[in-house]
Amino acid sequence: MEHEQKMAQKSKTDWERDWESAGLSPCSPHEKTRNHYSKWATRYDKELTDNMGYVAPKIAAETLRKWVKVKDARILDAGAGTGLVGECLQQLGYNNLDALDICPEMLEIAEKKGVYRNMYVDILSGPIPIQLPSNQYDAVVCVGVIEQPGPAALDELIRITKHNGIIVFTLRVDIAEDPDEVDFKQTLPKIESEHKVILLAKPRTAYRDLTDCFMYTYRVLKGTE
Ligand SMILES: C[S@@+](CC[C@H](N)C(=O)[O-])C[C@H]1O[C@@H](n2cnc3c(N)ncnc32)[C@H](O)[C@@H]1O
Repeated sequence: MEHEQKMAQKSKTDWERDWESAGLSPCSPHEKTRNHYSKWATRYDKELTDNMGYVAPKIAAETLRKWVKVKDARILDAGAGTGLVGECLQQLGYNNLDALDICPEMLEIAEKKGVYRNMYVDILSGPIPIQLPSNQYDAVVCVGVIEQPGPAALDELIRITKHNGIIVFTLRVDIAEDPDEVDFKQTLPKIESEHKVILLAKPRTAYRDLTDCFMYTYRVLKGTE
């Protein structure tokens, strides 16, 4: 299968400019995350799947299949990393996948798998919009990611999803149930009560060895937009 592989990559200078305008420093948690994954990239798949029993990508893909029946639905894998989720979706027949990640080294591994049509290096943050236009994805899947940028990043995932589109994301149980964690506990009910989304399901499922997650599925509502 031929794929148009496009790396729409913001330079580090662009990021620094964006961060400064949003009051973030280049030493922000985002930069630390990027460095962390760039060092891990070449070992990531083997360590996660062979040694850590990482099953979340497969369960997320199967979850998405319950709600997205059309195989050429346009799907963004947000925080795609090395493409483990994309591979699972491809095995289920999905063929119109894009990837976005903060870490170019992770996406370089994903690119070799030939799973994604378009690949974007970008930061899910909340304050700064990502580079993608509004209302263009039938579904967004976001596995093992949202804990880092926090729930504010969901606003961007909602913005790029079409009316009635689906968002599947994982939230680790240890984070969701941490008594000191307030952000997710406040923000998720808020976006649900503001009717930006309908919560379709959030079963507790395996994530990796010794760790569970809540597998959220949202249907996006755009009102009269
Ligand atoms: C645990 S890995 C999960 C990768 C992939 N979804 C999977 O399940 O294998 C987290 C990924 O999220 C990316 N990431 C973390 N924070 C991010 C952010 N704020 N914006 C975009 N990507 C981010 C990391 O670079 C990394 O590739």
